[in-house]
Amino acid sequence: MDKRNLCLIVTLLLLSIFSQVTIADQPEGKGKEVNAVAPDPGYVALDPLPGTGQERAFCTVQGVCYYRTLTCPTECPQRKPKQNKKQKGCYIDCSSKCEATCKWRLPRCDGYGALCYDPRFVGGDGVMFYFHGAKETDFAIVSDDNLHINAHLIGTRPQGRKRDYTWVQTLSVMFDTHTLVVGATEVSHWDDKVDALIVQWNGETVNVPTDGDAEWSVNTAERSVVVERTDDLNSVRVTVSEVLQLDVKVVPIGEKENKVHNYQLPADDAFAHLETQFKFFNLSKDVEGILGKTYQPGYVSPVKRGVPMPIMGGEDKYQTPSLHSAICKKCRFQRPSSVASA
Ligand SMILES: *[C@@H]1O[C@H](CO)[C@@H](O)[C@H](O)[C@H]1NC(C)=O
Repeated sequence: MDKRNLCLIVTLLLLSIFSQVTIADQPEGKGKEVNAVAPDPGYVALDPLPGTGQERAFCTVQGVCYYRTLTCPTECPQRKPKQNKKQKGCYIDCSSKCEATCKWRLPRCDGYGALCYDPRFVGGDGVMFYFHGAKETDFAIVSDDNLHINAHLIGTRPQGRKRDYTWVQTLSVMFDTHTLVVGATEVSHWDDKVDALIVQWNGETVNVPTDGDAEWSVNTAERSVVVERTDDLNSVRVTVSEVLQLDVKVVPIGEKENKVHNYQLPADDAFAHLETQFKFFNLSKDVEGILGKTYQPGYVSPVKRGVPMPIMGGEDKYQTPSLHSAICKKCRFQRPSSVASA
């Protein structure tokens, strides 16, 4: 009998013992998004409700939700809807919120930790800012003791403008001895029915299946890494246990967008790029990077508030020589030394 089955049986036993216990009303959850998510989901999945298929979970974290069973709402019966990725997923929260709610599993460009458009960030402090950079350059988005993320920018410079318009084409996520790349391929004419997403693990391109579980995963010595599709094509959720989660979507620059912003894009390039929302599980207080530093405790954003395009500087501090280099003036990340040569 494997460990999971054993776990389930123990859980069910406990459940039958404790189901009589009544628990006081839950307090208002505070819902802080910033670097505070438990890496362990804090529950054990139970069999879905017969008939409706609503998934259920038995909470195992200490607190108001301890030993309670949460049931997914009928509008989103599954945590990872597979057939129709246009459905919301059920999100089970065994923290003080103690609830199961429906959530889109796609990046929210206005949410904490967002990186979208020509790059526009929303920091861990909730403050929105733009970062200029330049086309065909790489910048450290996050640099910490055990995590480093670079972004590769693509872009264009319309005639008569002093700077490039830029978008994030590729992210390189480095942790332990590993590198996970998530990016958009170059697309001349965008087609919704074509996957323009690239995923690479330690330099090898991996295929994320589009059916079945629609996910690719690997277990390293330190943690588990999962890349799961959150739509039929061009969207994934990446989870690196105890490090981070990112929701990514590959999108083109549409004709309308091109006109409105006067990007003057060439006719043979859709500028496929990423919309991303990050969630971090274990940042240190000294975390650096264009986005990372906004997660420092007590960080005060230097950007002007109340203007339509507040600009964050720092090009000189965060530019790296290449997509996979963790070297910059403010960078902190170092590969574990035992494998530096690997
Ligand atoms: C969390 O980060 C610290 C360094 O900031 C590291 O020492 C620790 O191992 C990390 N925890 C996990 C579970 O990865």
